[in-house]
Amino acid sequence: MPILNPKRYTVTAALIYANGPIHIGHLAGCYIPADIYVRYLRSNKKEVAFISGTDEHGVPITIRAKKEGLTPQEVVDKYYAQIDASFKSLGISFDIYSRTSKDIHHETSKQIFRDLYDKNVFIEETTEQYFDETAQQFLADRYIVGTCPVCANPNAYGDQCERCGSTLSPLELKDPRSMLSGASPVLKATKNWYLPLDTLQPQIENYITSHGEWKTNVLGQCQSWLKDGLKPRAMTRDLDWGIKVPVEDTEGKVLYVWFEAPIGYISATKDWMIQKNGTDAGWEKWWQPETNAPEETKLVHFIGKDNIVFHCIIFPAMLMAEGNYILPDNVPANEFMNLEGDKISTSRNWAVWLHEYLEELPDKQDVLRYVLTANAPETKDSEFTWKDFQTRNNSELVGIFGNFINRAVVLTHKFCEGKVPAAGALEEIDQNTLSQLEAFPARIGEAIENYRFREALTFIMDLARLGNKYLADTQPWHVIKTDPARVNTILNIALQISATLAIVSEPILPFTAAKIADQLGLAGQTWPDAGKPNLLSAGQPITGAKLLFEKIEDHVIEQQIQKLHDAKRLNELEGKVVAPVKAEIQYDDFAKMDIRVATIVAAENVPKSKKLLKLLVDIGSEKRTVLSGISEHFKAEEIIGNKVLYLANLAPRKMMGMESHGMILMAEDKDGSLAFVQPGKEIWNGGTVN
Ligand code: MF3
Ligand code: ZN
Repeated sequence: MPILNPKRYTVTAALIYANGPIHIGHLAGCYIPADIYVRYLRSNKKEVAFISGTDEHGVPITIRAKKEGLTPQEVVDKYYAQIDASFKSLGISFDIYSRTSKDIHHETSKQIFRDLYDKNVFIEETTEQYFDETAQQFLADRYIVGTCPVCANPNAYGDQCERCGSTLSPLELKDPRSMLSGASPVLKATKNWYLPLDTLQPQIENYITSHGEWKTNVLGQCQSWLKDGLKPRAMTRDLDWGIKVPVEDTEGKVLYVWFEAPIGYISATKDWMIQKNGTDAGWEKWWQPETNAPEETKLVHFIGKDNIVFHCIIFPAMLMAEGNYILPDNVPANEFMNLEGDKISTSRNWAVWLHEYLEELPDKQDVLRYVLTANAPETKDSEFTWKDFQTRNNSELVGIFGNFINRAVVLTHKFCEGKVPAAGALEEIDQNTLSQLEAFPARIGEAIENYRFREALTFIMDLARLGNKYLADTQPWHVIKTDPARVNTILNIALQISATLAIVSEPILPFTAAKIADQLGLAGQTWPDAGKPNLLSAGQPITGAKLLFEKIEDHVIEQQIQKLHDAKRLNELEGKVVAPVKAEIQYDDFAKMDIRVATIVAAENVPKSKKLLKLLVDIGSEKRTVLSGISEHFKAEEIIGNKVLYLANLAPRKMMGMESHGMILMAEDKDGSLAFVQPGKEIWNGGTVN
């Protein structure tokens, strides 16, 4: 059962890895819904803590560091700063944006680990793990490559094959190699501490079953984990980047990142207290049950779907085992958002990055918040396209919302001296409109409380439509000629609708709502005041119309689409994975190859073959015929006279009815283009390579 009338709310948004910038998928999946929920609660005068920060440990950080040639610390410093700044400018209203590299987090995580350790919750187990003797370290799954047992991809990772999608364990790979040194890793015994999720399963099942109100996609994932049967999971890992295990003789071991990262929510709460009051005192009420009143704090985790098991099963299991913590009351995880028909991918650079958006489309924070809410992947994967972004801006924000507020304000200046007019006797249409207006805040609020943010947004737009329809039906610009008193009533009502719109749209469109509130002279009214007939008092002055939204032209959109494709192409060129080093050979294996210098003396196309060129090479002692699959890269006439390296003792092969002798050595560039391998200075034909 959900907690219905909590005294306070602890709301968290996933601690994202500080290994890259934020993109629209993160925003739509987690941060914007969390911010809407929290702003709504605040507007209702609820006591709420909005907690987030960056996750700064784990293999994703060390991989990024290697790629950028930085230390892990430099990587997290760089991205923390960037992520923090871009969330702020989008108006994500965290109470604290902390980091898991802070002392308070190290202490808190160690303390909880030590507690569980002392309570004998963990199982101690020694297993064999791959160890790189050259690099002198155990290898995380992502640091092992080898041949996929399912599809024979020679570059599958220790946890997954990206070609066939199979989930793997490092022990299943054939010919495993270390990504650190290229060496074949050896198995070595190591001791780690496991959380016995198997024995905790009945408790977890009870907990999840008691939350039948959770979203279907969330319950679905939980049930499938439970059905497969939970297995013990290692809470320590053999790695050097992370939080040291607070147990003797554990050199080279750190806490599993998914053990400590969620504890980061608790540490961040302490960090918030420290920043406010100089001590962490006061964090407890956000995380621990009060005596005799266990249900006073409602804990809600906003995350994306890839984090479900950690927040719905593993973290609650830790908290249960610990004993003195409240459990998540809801985990409204979203599905994924796609971009222009393709999955968002950091590694393929297929994304709209928040920091770039903010720079290139300044003052359009609310447009992004609007479009990502309208298309939020609440029940299934959804899609962002720049065309849709443009249409929603131009026809919905400019055409409906902005247009209504603008008309109400401009008409008031024109007909009522820029002051809120007093309403006179109400006609049927007025009464009808006012009673519809009054019902809106509760409908919108109910949708938000139940994590249906898309629905809340459609209700808000319905309210703006109601305003437009009211003006269209009452036509104050005609009535003014015959009945100015009637116009006062009409504009009073139009302004009351505008004021309610400012309040109810604030969680989704905070920048716009602030402009409207300012324009109408709203002074601190919040949700409970919305929809009430006298939100604005008669006689109150209003300022001139402000630009709320502006039309976005085609060229702006085309530029963004072009940019997406350019970035992806550039990435394909730059990011091509360097082939891992092949298995070791001995000098004798090498010495068997007879490689020598030769000159191409004749070249011609092979009829009916797309790829082959027929070459004649002078190898000093004789001339040889070689068939080479390079005609897509070189024109026959252009390569005559080229010096090459030639493998002379390769057994002859028949191709297209001709015999090919030996092979010309080629190097392949990252874009797939080929070049001859040539000695650095002119060497005579027949010169050998040793
Ligand atoms: N770092 C994880 C990610 O980016 C999320 C961690 S959420 C927390 O997917 F619960 F661990 F904090
Ligand atoms: Zn595979």
